[in-house]
Amino acid sequence: MKTTVKASSDLALIKYWGKKDDILRLPENGSVSMVLEELSTITTVEFSSEFQKDEIQIQGESDIGEVERVINHLDRIRQLIGSSLRARVVSQNSFPKGTGLSSSGSGFAALTLAATKALDLNLSEKQLSILARQGSGTACRCVCGGFVEWMDGETSDTSYSETFYQASHWELKDIIVVVDEGKKKISSTQGHESARSSIFYSTRLAKIDEKIAELKKVIGDKNFSKFGELIEGEALEFHSILLTSNPPLLAWYPGTIEVMLAVQQMRNEGIEAYFSINTGFNVHVISLPDNMDEVRKRLDKLSLVKKTMVSGVGNGPVYLDEHLF
Ligand code: DP6
Repeated sequence: MKTTVKASSDLALIKYWGKKDDILRLPENGSVSMVLEELSTITTVEFSSEFQKDEIQIQGESDIGEVERVINHLDRIRQLIGSSLRARVVSQNSFPKGTGLSSSGSGFAALTLAATKALDLNLSEKQLSILARQGSGTACRCVCGGFVEWMDGETSDTSYSETFYQASHWELKDIIVVVDEGKKKISSTQGHESARSSIFYSTRLAKIDEKIAELKKVIGDKNFSKFGELIEGEALEFHSILLTSNPPLLAWYPGTIEVMLAVQQMRNEGIEAYFSINTGFNVHVISLPDNMDEVRKRLDKLSLVKKTMVSGVGNGPVYLDEHLF
């Protein structure tokens, strides 16, 4: 049955960085994220005995590396029921991929839900999360909605995500500040491999469970100042690991730094906003709804900012009746 799913990407508030098992994608540490309603991927999957081979189209292109990764994931799903049917997969993003906005998260979440349903497999959210994780770590969180925790787990069956607050719990705004639309130089998958080479990595791991518990509490209390300090500090800690890894990963562009400084300057002027950055150069700036217009206006005026997009906290994936082919 042809199946289409829309899944949103997320912003890691506490980052997944480093894997203890590369094949199963078991992370070294747990992570926490909020799902981003407006950054989404729509994927249609159909299996048929009439297809001679898998045909994959992501954002109208067929990049060899990405296609291979998608086919590996389809194989993983086919193996669950011993199917040898080939598939047609077409996928569209509402945002640029490969720029540090976690397109692999929404992409593999949508693919996992669409492909399993297309093969008549009815899996629980936990089973979908475990399966999606093996395609891309972030996708393990993107099968859930709202505020999400991914438990690191020692085995494949214990490493999955759960929603700990629904999206409606707290209305936060993420202003996604695009300073470049080109591809980032280093993929996260490559970056994870060098995490352990940073001298700060073991200290990060030793403290991370405490940080996760604290963040969940401030989200529960809706304490925006503490929330902001925690997530901005986490982003900077994460980038300290990148900078001190071998080889070093310097993800920031001049525009990235311009945005970080502007956010800190806004706070000096009493306008509360906080930033977070993944492995790319684009920046997420989080504010409360009341401040959003003012923060965005100021960010739009910066000389190196190409454009901004706004997202609220989103729900989990949904099945759509309209297909992409
Ligand atoms: C910095 O999920 O992209 O965005 O599992 O190899 O696909 P793979 O990596 P990926 O890593 C994301 C890293 C991060 C932090 C995060 O989203 O938690």
